[in-house]
Amino acid sequence: MDVFKVSRSGPLKGEIEVGGAKNAALPLLAATLLTDEAVTLRNVPDLSDIRFMVEILSHVGSEVENPEPGVWKLKAAELTHIAPYELVRKMRASVCLLGPLTARLRKAEVSIPGGCVIGPRPIDLHLKGLAKLNCEVEITNGYVHVDASKIQGGPVFLGGRSGSTVTGTANIVMAAVLAPGTTRIECAACEPEVVDLCNLLVKMGAKIEGIGSPELTIEGVEKLHGCEHSVIADRIEAGTFIVAAAITRGDVTVKGIPPNLLGAFLDKLEESGVPLKIEGDNIRVLPYEGSLKPVDCITLPYPGFPTDLQAQLCALMTQVEGISIITERIYPNRFMHVPELQRMGADIAIEGPSAIVKGASKLSGAPVMASDLRASAALILAAFAATGETWIQRIYHLDRGYERFEQKLAGLGAKIERLSDKDMPKELLEA
Ligand code: EPU
Repeated sequence: MDVFKVSRSGPLKGEIEVGGAKNAALPLLAATLLTDEAVTLRNVPDLSDIRFMVEILSHVGSEVENPEPGVWKLKAAELTHIAPYELVRKMRASVCLLGPLTARLRKAEVSIPGGCVIGPRPIDLHLKGLAKLNCEVEITNGYVHVDASKIQGGPVFLGGRSGSTVTGTANIVMAAVLAPGTTRIECAACEPEVVDLCNLLVKMGAKIEGIGSPELTIEGVEKLHGCEHSVIADRIEAGTFIVAAAITRGDVTVKGIPPNLLGAFLDKLEESGVPLKIEGDNIRVLPYEGSLKPVDCITLPYPGFPTDLQAQLCALMTQVEGISIITERIYPNRFMHVPELQRMGADIAIEGPSAIVKGASKLSGAPVMASDLRASAALILAAFAATGETWIQRIYHLDRGYERFEQKLAGLGAKIERLSDKDMPKELLEA
């Protein structure tokens, strides 16, 4: 298995390009099932999650081509309505097949994704939404069975305990675009990735109003057609690079990221004192003297501070003098990075849904374990600020969502190497 060896790095310097957004690309790929014509997607990141999704789409009958890096052409002429457990269990986002299969075939059988380390991830809102569209929804033997023979547009409220649902909104929008009548979704997720999906669907011939707002009105159409579409930039990858620059006091320009996608995050970093210069779609992080200021931050649905950047902010705040309070409102247990950061010397206490980070800590390299995608990134960022070597195991989590991560950061001068666990000192290997 691959591992990362990371040493104290920085200041990082140079320019770094942001790739296509994983969390936009996954529902966009699923949306290609809504037409029997070919849909070409560009700027698709090369990630293991994307390869899982393509595997599932090809299993349900899509003809899949990858004519050049970053470009996928999919044609779903003949489809089957069953997405089996063996494939769905590999990736939660495969739940995004529910909407398109329901819309196109008027029936779906999709396995319910398994547990997730970042906490409970129910799909009750997806199911409630489908029921509101007059579908019969039943769970048996670990599968969601949808009978959509009488599907009909209608009012759908998608708010849950933590606000709306990103992939739930994607599913209901995808089901509604081919449902007779008008669907009005209230409390729709406003994440840029949902906007990107709606924009693709409009290109395919869907009628959607209110895109980007919590109220979407969808007029069902009989058929959608093929088109070409380029995936939006990955705001979480961009945010991770910005933290890499800030934690090393570097001078880095993150290119190709519309700053409005990162409003709350950039605001929090500026509040902390990170000097930022924004020019068009480029964000330059400038070096600074002295300590940053601690922050009080709460993760919220877009346009609030994204949960997917919470772990990275935690890593940065370990290097800031004073007490930061980082509260997780989307996934209150998403603190798997904390015990590993503690092993590197961070002073962090978990109080309910909050991490209380006391800085600045002198971090030192240690063997640590990546637990999920964003936690992996946080450990690498902390390792840039730590003395000695940090060995990070289970980096397949990182490969799910960051494309050529170590190569891109090494281009800025980061000391990060991908090695095999056979290269690790034996005494550091996990049992
Ligand atoms: N929720 C419900 N019921 C539902 C669905 C969600 O109660 O039916 C709750 C969840 O438990 C959570 C909140 O609503 O507390 C938000 O969950 P959401 O459904 O929005 O999350 P998701 O669609 O499963 C996407 C991203 C996640 C990201 C979240 C939140 C994709 C493929 N995944 O997940 O990305 O953290 O939105 O922004 O788009 C990641 O990239 O590392 C990642 C985990």
